[in-house]
Amino acid sequence: AAAVAGLLPASVLAQKKLVLGFAQVGAESEWRTANTESIKSAAKDAGIELKFSDAQQKQENQIKAIRSYIAQKVDVIAFSPVVESGWDTVLREAKAAKIPVVLTDRAVNSKDDTLYVTFMGSDFVEEGRKAGRWLVEKMKDQKGDVNIVELQGTVGSAPAIDRKKGFEEIIKADPKFKIIRSQTGDFTRAKGKEVMEAFLKAEGKKINVLFAHNDDMAIGAIQAIEEAGLKPAKDITIISIDGVKGAFEAMIAGKLNVTVECSPLLGPQLMNAVKDIKAGKTLPKRIVTEEGIFPMEVAAKEFPSRKY
Ligand code: AHR
Repeated sequence: AAAVAGLLPASVLAQKKLVLGFAQVGAESEWRTANTESIKSAAKDAGIELKFSDAQQKQENQIKAIRSYIAQKVDVIAFSPVVESGWDTVLREAKAAKIPVVLTDRAVNSKDDTLYVTFMGSDFVEEGRKAGRWLVEKMKDQKGDVNIVELQGTVGSAPAIDRKKGFEEIIKADPKFKIIRSQTGDFTRAKGKEVMEAFLKAEGKKINVLFAHNDDMAIGAIQAIEEAGLKPAKDITIISIDGVKGAFEAMIAGKLNVTVECSPLLGPQLMNAVKDIKAGKTLPKRIVTEEGIFPMEVAAKEFPSRKY
């Protein structure tokens, strides 16, 4: 292994604690909290020193954090890019410093894929498709229009772009499905509630379906729906993504129809990747997380085994 350029001899490698710099998106959702927890505990279990930063959903903060990890000469940098574009400059700086970069959870849309080693995380387009397929099946006997409102995730983020794309790809097969309003709720409960209030004000009882790009926004919207005197999951069919415990609780309470799973438990996989990279192994460019879909009918049975 020592023959591979840039590697230390195995004996030195064994003694040296690997240092990982991780630039997290923020703490915007239950999903993100579980993701942070998974990364912190996996680093501890793997004996990897973790330098962690929270960018509060701001790209400039993530870039600053990455630059500081480069300056500190960490062994590997990992991050979950808040938005897809605008990363090339800082990634080139990491490459010039010979620090390998791993993307977790969210992708970048850079044309140069030598700027990162691997991207591990969910297939967000497929999540959108799963949400769409569930809706098409549920509404297959409905004759008139199905009016959908959509709560999008953070503007410019991979999950917001891809989930929308996958969902639309499926529902466009039948013109009765109409997205009548679509706006960002920034993946937070507070924003989800606020935007749903505005949707209800504008469209009222015309709304048949809510597609929320994550559970937190759906949970915020459920509050808005109840405050408007409507019954969530009955008057308005609600579909969301993540599969966090809060969503299972909402389904058990009969207020959310379905959640598409998106696993935040990427920590162990990331630590294995860090070790493999430093050992000179070649990793696949894309590592996709396996995920399911949980309608309200199975929520009570599944709840005890949910890990996040
Ligand atoms: O990137 C994953 C998304 O980010 C999750 O669906 C959402 O809850 C989080 O904030």
